[in-house]
Amino acid sequence: MQEKTGLFIVFEGLDGSGKSTQAEILYEKLIQLGKPVVKLREPTEGKWGKKIRECAREAGSLSPGEELELFIKDRKEDIRKNIKPALLNNKIVILDRYFYSTLAYQGARGIPLEEIRKKHESFLIKPDVVFIIDVPVSLGLKRIKDRAVIYRLFEEEDYLKKVRKIFLSLPDPECQIIDGRRAIPDIAREIWQYLEGNFPEQIRV
Ligand code: ADP
Ligand code: TYD
Repeated sequence: MQEKTGLFIVFEGLDGSGKSTQAEILYEKLIQLGKPVVKLREPTEGKWGKKIRECAREAGSLSPGEELELFIKDRKEDIRKNIKPALLNNKIVILDRYFYSTLAYQGARGIPLEEIRKKHESFLIKPDVVFIIDVPVSLGLKRIKDRAVIYRLFEEEDYLKKVRKIFLSLPDPECQIIDGRRAIPDIAREIWQYLEGNFPEQIRV
């Protein structure tokens, strides 16, 4: 998108990888520095996001194709209502999950990645950077073992191994793989150093 002026940062990874923790740390740091920043997540709290959560409670209630269509509707609305306006207002947008989750999770359900990319072509805004927080499936599951079971649909181990494999194989140059097995502050430091090195005007005081 040509007229985009802010900075668009996405966090991706398996559930329990620590992506929401890192998104929150970055958000707080930018707020402290007085930067204009918004933090969003997908699935959203909008009507399509709510529908996705409802469906996720009943494993197997949607075909992979139906699941894909719902995530796309939710994303289109998120871009139009939240992401694009914020970027046009020169804000830093931090987004917890995006297009890359669809490639990985719906791709792992058997939908060809090219088909998923094609369906996004007409409306997707590409982020400036995507931090893929990588952990082995077993570690992610261990970290979220007491989380409510409503997302069990997404949490079978073999399926998640495929999801991880896709995350690690994405060729998009904006994707940065971050080793999520380390301590929270160490990961946060690496992310900050990357941003300072690559987007100094947008994040420095
Ligand atoms: P995600 O958003 O990827 O599902 P969260 O950020 O919600 O993951 O983290 C899941 C759980 O793991 C939380 O209890 C969080 O405090 C913990 N956690 C996050 N990052 C780490 C880390 N690097 N090391 C150990 N525990 C972590
Ligand atoms: P989310 O509400 O972010 O859960 P969590 O807080 O555990 O990360 O996402 C719910 C699930 O939706 C998550 O397991 C991944 C899945 N998902 C997809 O399958 N495709 C997508 O495009 C997105 C955005 C999420």
